Amino acid sequence: MKRSLEVAISRLTERDFDEAVRLYTEGYRNLELYAYTHPDDVRAYLEWMAERDGEGLLKAVSGKGMVGFIGSDSHWFSKREGKQVGAIHELVVTPDLRRRGIGRELIREAVRRFLMRGLDTVELWVGDGNTVARKFYEKLGFKESGRYNYWIRMKADIQKLLQKLEQS
Ligand SMILES: CC(C)(COP(=O)(O)OP(=O)(O)OC[C@H]1O[C@@H](n2cnc3c(N)ncnc32)[C@H](O)[C@@H]1OP(=O)(O)O)[C@@H](O)C(=O)NCCC(=O)NCCS
Repeated sequence: MKRSLEVAISRLTERDFDEAVRLYTEGYRNLELYAYTHPDDVRAYLEWMAERDGEGLLKAVSGKGMVGFIGSDSHWFSKREGKQVGAIHELVVTPDLRRRGIGRELIREAVRRFLMRGLDTVELWVGDGNTVARKFYEKLGFKESGRYNYWIRMKADIQKLLQKLEQS
């Protein structure tokens, strides 16, 4: 088993957008069905996440620079839940550093923020053919709770999720 990689987590700001666009594009290679493919669209997506919840747009940095980021949103109203939830809009880790705990670390930070804001549920949408991401979320305790076209909705109870994250 590979050792987990230590990363520092901090806000991803406009200055990081070029690096984030590169990381995203590389990270979604062979998963283009579920991703923006034009750099301008990726940048607009980053801007949208920053506008929705700038404090929830976070990067993981190692000695190699940015190695992952998460777009989390504590202002999201879920129509399906009928209440405000924590939403994970995006999570991507650079391909050559996967399975080193970076994705888990980014989720942990996002979930801590959700908890501080009094939220109790996290939701996200994942592509139905994105088996790696689905396994990743299932391992953390997310459960499928709906579908729209080729997107699967997953959700988790924040307390249970945090417990699981603190154990691992
Ligand atoms: C999904 C993603 C963010 C996971 O990031 P990661 O840093 O590799 O994940 P972690 O190392 O924190 O993995 C945590 C656990 O998830 C599970 N997991 C992760 N990748 C897995 C894989 N390829 N196969 C099976 N289980 C996997 C494992 O249980 C893993 O723990 P372990 O390595 O101790 O067994 C990464 O694969 C990625 O960037 N994918 C492309 C973008 C994407 O699909 N994003 C999600 C959009 S909703």
